[in-house]
Amino acid sequence: MWRVKSLDAILATAEKKSLHRSLGAFQLTMLGIGGIIGTGIFVLTAEAAQKAGPGMMVSFIIAGFVCAVAALCYAELASMVPVSGSAYTYSYAVLGEFFAWLVGWALILEYAVAASAVAVGWSGYMVGLIEASLHTELPLAFTAGPYAGGIVNLPAIVISLAVTGLLILGTKESATVNSVLVIVKVAALAAFIWLALPVINDDNFKPFAPLGSTGVVAAAASIFFAYVGFDAVSTAAEETKNPQRNIPIGLIGSLIICTIFYMLVAAGAIGAYGAQPVFGPGGEALAPGSVMLAEQCSSLAGAGKMPLVCSKEALAHVMRELGHPMVGKFIGLAAGIALPSVILMMIYGQTRIFFVMSRDGLLPPALSKVHPKFKTPHIVTMITGVGVTFAAAFLPVGKLADISNSGTLFAFLMVSIAVMMLRVKQPDRARPFRTPLVWVIAPVAAAGTVVLFFFLPHDAKLLFPVWSAIGLVLYFAYGYRKSYVGRGITDVPELAEDAPPTAVAPMPGAPAPGSKEERD
Ligand code: ALA
Repeated sequence: MWRVKSLDAILATAEKKSLHRSLGAFQLTMLGIGGIIGTGIFVLTAEAAQKAGPGMMVSFIIAGFVCAVAALCYAELASMVPVSGSAYTYSYAVLGEFFAWLVGWALILEYAVAASAVAVGWSGYMVGLIEASLHTELPLAFTAGPYAGGIVNLPAIVISLAVTGLLILGTKESATVNSVLVIVKVAALAAFIWLALPVINDDNFKPFAPLGSTGVVAAAASIFFAYVGFDAVSTAAEETKNPQRNIPIGLIGSLIICTIFYMLVAAGAIGAYGAQPVFGPGGEALAPGSVMLAEQCSSLAGAGKMPLVCSKEALAHVMRELGHPMVGKFIGLAAGIALPSVILMMIYGQTRIFFVMSRDGLLPPALSKVHPKFKTPHIVTMITGVGVTFAAAFLPVGKLADISNSGTLFAFLMVSIAVMMLRVKQPDRARPFRTPLVWVIAPVAAAGTVVLFFFLPHDAKLLFPVWSAIGLVLYFAYGYRKSYVGRGITDVPELAEDAPPTAVAPMPGAPAPGSKEERD
């Protein structure tokens, strides 16, 4: 289980499969921003405020810093190994199959659970937009899960299924559509900043950290979600012109741009409207997404003053309260249009990861079956879509984001370790992008991910080992025996005509995976 997939075999895979290389540095940066800006800033700002108050400004810096150092590690590996599969592939080459499996399994949390979180975030904005436009209230029973006194989050179900359907029909987000949506999102955030910054009131920053430094770091662990998605850039490696130069630019460039926007939005929301947490009747801190908080919020809303932390559409809410209802609607509309593309990227990314794992024999070949008419991996897309929909229907956005973060932080940890190990094991291999000060940056990235992990809420922290244990049972029951690397097949053929870039020609004499000879 410690077997590694050689880097040369991985690179040969990439070279033989010549996908059209069309993306440049600009489009990659746009792709990164497209993946990054989403529910995190539009919705979770409220959750971060509930944990940290105005101190969430610092939380944004901490989370952005951890992502930046992790991105520098990602960039070195992505430029060396510009193939699909992201952290899973790097881990396979450096840390071996066992860790690669764990990372791949954790990436399900990163991608699929994140898709659910963004779907719930979308629901909050759509419900807000409809209510504000029609001056009516939609029934809570069908717009929120049991955590907030509802039954099921119907809008979140609808959007998850719609996106899954689009993916089955073969919708791929084109770079052009992505660029348009990025402009929409950035315009919404810019409008917010433009109107909020001039009316900042210094008093709103006091007390700065009502729940102490623990609250600030805990908020950083949650708001980390707002930065996730930059690794979408590395998954596009095979479609990138001059990946050695452009991928690092895309990764780091998109992260810097988003961090600046986030800081300004947070400053505007806190300063112009206020972002103090809501406490329980006994002055106790209330967890975001809890029934208690929902109850406190509804009594505050009844009294006519809904704090930021109670809003499911934080940025639109602030705009309305500041007397800009039309801008509030524009922000709601922008979120409504643009967030589904984040869901699409996340579910698409998930199917890619499943594909690569299936190509390596760690998951059943059936998962890579392609629909005869639509030429899309319909089975794996459906499985992913059903899972995403189910979680979105019943769970609160913050919990989903925290669960997703636990998987992402683990993947980042493995990447920062892999970068150091590869420097030692293969010091002479060409590194088109070298992580600067790697012996400082990589350990800092590793330590940062571990610290943030331990500041996640208990349930997310506990779920991760349980999830990994389930993964390990599956690995030893299936992947360990079926692994192509384990069976000496290093070169695997194309699984299907239109499959994502996952495979190369077979070794002489080796049966194709899923072929009749192999099944026999
Ligand atoms: N960073 C992405 C978002 O905030 C996942 O929605």
